[in-house]
This record gives sequence, structure tokens and C-alpha cells, in this order.
Amino acid sequence: MKVLIVGGGGREHALAWKLNQSEMVKKIYAAPGNAGISQLGECVNIKADDLSGLADFAERNSVDLTLVGPELPLTLGIVDQFEARRLKIFGPSKKASEIEGSKAYAKEFMQKYHIPTASFKIFDDKNQALDFLKENTFPLVIKADGLAAGKGVIPVDNFYQAEETVKKIMVEKIFKEAGSKIVVEDFLEGEEVTIMAFTDGKTVIPMVPSQDHKRIYNGDAGPNTGGMGAYAPTLFVHDRLTKRVYEEILEPTILGLERENRTFKGILYAGLMLTELGPKVMEFNCRFGDPETQVVLPLLKGDLVEIILSIIDGELELENIDWKNDFAVCVIMASSGYPGKYEKGKDIWGLNKIKDDALVFHAGTKYENGRFKTDGGRVLGVTGVESSMDKAISKAYTSVDKIRFSGMQYRRDIGKKGMKLKGKYL
Ligand SMILES: Nc1ncnc2c1ncn2[C@@H]1O[C@H](COP(=O)(O)OP(=O)(O)O)[C@@H](O)[C@H]1O
Ligand SMILES: [Mg+2]
Repeated sequence: MKVLIVGGGGREHALAWKLNQSEMVKKIYAAPGNAGISQLGECVNIKADDLSGLADFAERNSVDLTLVGPELPLTLGIVDQFEARRLKIFGPSKKASEIEGSKAYAKEFMQKYHIPTASFKIFDDKNQALDFLKENTFPLVIKADGLAAGKGVIPVDNFYQAEETVKKIMVEKIFKEAGSKIVVEDFLEGEEVTIMAFTDGKTVIPMVPSQDHKRIYNGDAGPNTGGMGAYAPTLFVHDRLTKRVYEEILEPTILGLERENRTFKGILYAGLMLTELGPKVMEFNCRFGDPETQVVLPLLKGDLVEIILSIIDGELELENIDWKNDFAVCVIMASSGYPGKYEKGKDIWGLNKIKDDALVFHAGTKYENGRFKTDGGRVLGVTGVESSMDKAISKAYTSVDKIRFSGMQYRRDIGKKGMKLKGKYL
């Protein structure tokens, strides 16, 4: 079959890598893809949010299955459009994707279905928000309602910071319409973990738990990024906790969405805080996470296409999903200046020295004049897969040390906090 992957980051390269191992897949297209994906398939220059352009392409080229990486096309309704044109596509409908597209919607949904999350208030009026904040104790977290590319969440320690933040979001409109509503919620203490799950809207099967490293610098310092590295599985999420996440969060979410006429088919991503009172949802995403996918897919046994087709057919309950007994650690190599302004077009050296040691997933890269060059903030994800965390960490960094580009930055401590947490939640 011919498969089209929408998107062009490390997550999409990892998807292409996994699909490429399927007996069923004869041809991979990616829109827009990147230099790494172009080694496995054909990249076409269509933007991920050009829904009719993508559907036209799929129709013209008899694409048998489309997979969507990023959230934007999903929340814009790519699945509804493809299905209306009888094109097979994997992912949630526009209405189901709102669980990621609107944080206010997600919070009200969780409240209605008693899914554990931080207590909150929603405001579309600046003065009402400020009145509420004046009376409150801190720390709190202020979130823009809509999609803000991972920048719309701001923790505040006092009223002064809160006032500044509300002004930026609601008056200066730094997140545009995404900030016309805000969520103000309690600051949760604990350890963050990602649990992604396959679901056809009835059955939900969690993947191995993973942990992202959001901050730019070692020791979780500095500003938030799209993610500077990840590892899986987490040693501190034991079976009892997974069961709790399943019973208190994943299952009621899927059942609740079905009851709301928003049946969710695809990947449900739960961003959790493990608090003293148990796991609480910080956010839902309606697709694979990045970089988490770069460590979770290498641990998945079997054929991803088979799982996806059974989800589309509503037969996930018949699937057996197995995981390797290994550990995967992914180190993101980013451009100088990221997550702020950065330059592009730097030559990348050393990729040819990576043989069978680690998996190198490309994110912001392009191939030009016979060379790989940087073309984004996050440039590469280097994933080591081994039988222990120690070994996976050193495998990833041995390969990272062979790669160079001008101004590159990466964290040296990916996976370390996970080792420290071993047994903490037992
Ligand atoms: N209630 C909260 N308490 C403490 N930290 C939070 C809370 N909500 C979000 N965060 C932090 O902010 C990050 C981003 O928030 P999230 O809700 O995942 O939004 P997004 O991924 O859309 O930016 C989280 O990964 C977490 O580190
Ligand atoms: Mg998040």
C-alpha cells in the first residue's frame, strides 16, 4: 500500500521508519517531510495545514492510508475532509480533536466526567480574571485556551506576574485568538509522565510510559521547549499506577467522548502529573507526542500499520500489542538560540559515521548540494535502544558525540532524572 505521512518533524521520521518495516507498505510519501524522511520515501511540498491540497494529492496518487503527525490539521478537520472524500485516514475527527484544540473544553470535559485534573476557572474577560486572581493564593498556572505551539502555558508565582500574563494574552494578544479565553489552574507538584494510548473509540490500549525533558538546559533549567529529549519506559510507573491511569483517566475519557458524540479514534496522549493524590491530567493531545514517539515506536513490536488499520475498522480489541523489554533514550540536538530565534542552513557533519549504533531521526533538516543542513529549531533526535537505561543513555550519547553543526546545543542529562526516580512511586 501507499502511505502518506502529514508533517515533517522527528515524530514523522520515526513514523516513517516504523512504517518502512511493514510488509504492507510499498511506498511512503511525506508532506512536507524532511531530509531524513526523504531517504525512506518521497517528500512532497504541501504544507501540513493545506487540507484540500493534501486530499487532492492523496486522491491523485491513490494513497491507501494517511497518517497525521501534528495537531493543527487534526483540529482543522483533516480527518472529516478525507473521510468525506472516501480517503482512508488515521486520526480523530475535528470534534474529537477539540480535546487538544481547546484547553477550556478539555477542562470542562474532565470536570463533567470526573477525570482527575487541577482545579480551574475559565475566563473570557480580563477584568473577571484579574478579580479572581487578586483573591487567590499562588503559585497558579495560566493557559491560553487554543493551540500555541507549546508556548501558551505560563506558571505565575504572585499577582503581579499573573496580571502581566493576563495582559499579554488577553490585551496584547500574543497568542492571537488562541488567547481569547484563558484557563487559570492550580499548580501541581510532582513528576511528569506521558502515557499515549491507541484507541478506536471503544477499546483503549496504553503504550509504554515515557518522559519528556521540556526545559532547554541540563537539570531542567531555562525556558520550555518543544522537548529536548525523552526516554521510555519510565521506571517509576509500575503496573498498579498504569492500571489507575487506565481506570481513572483513559477509559472514562474515551467513554465520555463517545457519550458526547465525539468518538475518538487515533492516538490519545495524556500528559500527566503524578501528584501525592495520584495521577492528574495536565493536558490531552490528540496525536503522537514529539519527542516521545522517537522513544516509544522503537520499542513497539510488530506492525504499526496493522494496529492502525484495526483502529480504523473499530477492531482494536482483537489486537495484541507487544513491547520490547528494552529501554530507549532520545537526545534532541537543537540549533543555537532555540527555543528563541535561531539560524538555519548550517552544514551537519558526521551523520555518515552513525552505523548501527543509534537511530537518527531528522526534525529540522534539508538536503542541499549533496549535504545535510539544519532547517529548524530542533534538528535531530538521536535514539539509543538497549537492554538497560545506562546502556541506552551511553549509546545515544556515543552517537551524539559523532555529530556536529555550528551552534548545536543539546542536554547532557537526558534519562538521568528517570534513573533517580526509580522506585519512587512504588
Ligand atoms: N497545573 C500545572 N501545574 C504545574 N505545571 C504545569 C501545569 N500545567 C502545565 N504545566 C507545565 O507546563 C507544561 C506545558 O503545559 P501543557 O498543559 O502540557 O501545555 P502545552 O503542551 O500545550 O504547552 C507541562 O508539561 C508542565 O511542565
Ligand atoms: Mg504538553
